[in-house]
Amino acid sequence: MTRVFINYRRQDSEGYVGRLYDHLLRHFAPEDIFMDVASIEPGQDFVKALDEAVAACDVFVAVIGPQWAALRDEHGERRLDQWNDFVHIEIASALKREKLIVPALVGRAKMPAPTDLPDDIAALSRRNALELSHGNFAQDVERLIAIAKDAAPAKQSFKRGSDSRTRQRKTEALKAVRDDLVNATTSPLYPVRVEGRYFPVLGEGNPDANILFIGESPGKTEAQQGRPFCGPSGDILDGLLGDIGLARESVFITNILLDHPGAKREPTPEELAFYTPFADRLVDIIQPAVIVTLGRFAMQYLLKKLDLPEKRGTITQLHGKLIKARLPYGEIHIIPMYHPAVVLYSASQKEVLKQDFEKLKLFV
Ligand code: URA
Repeated sequence: MTRVFINYRRQDSEGYVGRLYDHLLRHFAPEDIFMDVASIEPGQDFVKALDEAVAACDVFVAVIGPQWAALRDEHGERRLDQWNDFVHIEIASALKREKLIVPALVGRAKMPAPTDLPDDIAALSRRNALELSHGNFAQDVERLIAIAKDAAPAKQSFKRGSDSRTRQRKTEALKAVRDDLVNATTSPLYPVRVEGRYFPVLGEGNPDANILFIGESPGKTEAQQGRPFCGPSGDILDGLLGDIGLARESVFITNILLDHPGAKREPTPEELAFYTPFADRLVDIIQPAVIVTLGRFAMQYLLKKLDLPEKRGTITQLHGKLIKARLPYGEIHIIPMYHPAVVLYSASQKEVLKQDFEKLKLFV
């Protein structure tokens, strides 16, 4: 779930923020909305505590009312210039962390000019603002909610609980799937497996991975070794993972067909019907936060199965997009990508794949 941080000045916009919070609650769980950083313990460094709270959010909403920049304390000092002003500290942290920052103007406030702001938050004035007007509040907030829902989730929101017992349980569950695959004598590709003395290829990697890659079908090298992506396409995949510093062992890699089809060809509907229940079982067990589909067959399978609005999109339109989906265990992102093998036919596609892989940095 996307996490929203609301930064505001009580004296300036409390009424608006209350209304905003009520609207947000219709779309987000209370624990995903940070409003007042609660309970900073005695002795704790509050700058650090605020920074950690900002770090955990995906969208930072800076609510700016008419008094926001001008408010002064009882000694006449401007709040925004004080070293311990929470509003200032939080905005500085959101800017430093390159968060998605949406200034929300309330009470007919205007966006402050950079010269009105302390240096370390002057860049706030370049963020495009959204007005939450009194008369049109509900509709304006809907726009804000749409932006928040589109935002990529923070890295911190994934797999906080991965532990050795979970990994052990998942390893055993995967072994049961592997046994079923080995014994899948009714598969349309079983005769190819027997004739070629090939291994079926369930996949490999971290059973509790955050990121699951689903390719197309094992090639001859993969079927001879019983491992996914260990031939020429695997070399390209390994390079792409290396470029973003993602260890192959930290993800799980599988295919939409789990036996070599005997030749370089597209999967048939019959083969897809047979093998996709295995992919479903892998997803249920691993429960990844991100599924990267490599090639159009895995992409089409998932988008159609989940009945997503993008289901009729082509890979040319959808590659590199973060598509949100809800699975029984929670919200995930599907990121369609071209199959690494495209680089073998067209070297220029490497750059496109590299850029798409950059998106994965959000999740590691
Ligand atoms: N191509 C795939 O789609 N999967 C593999 O495992 C290898 C090549």
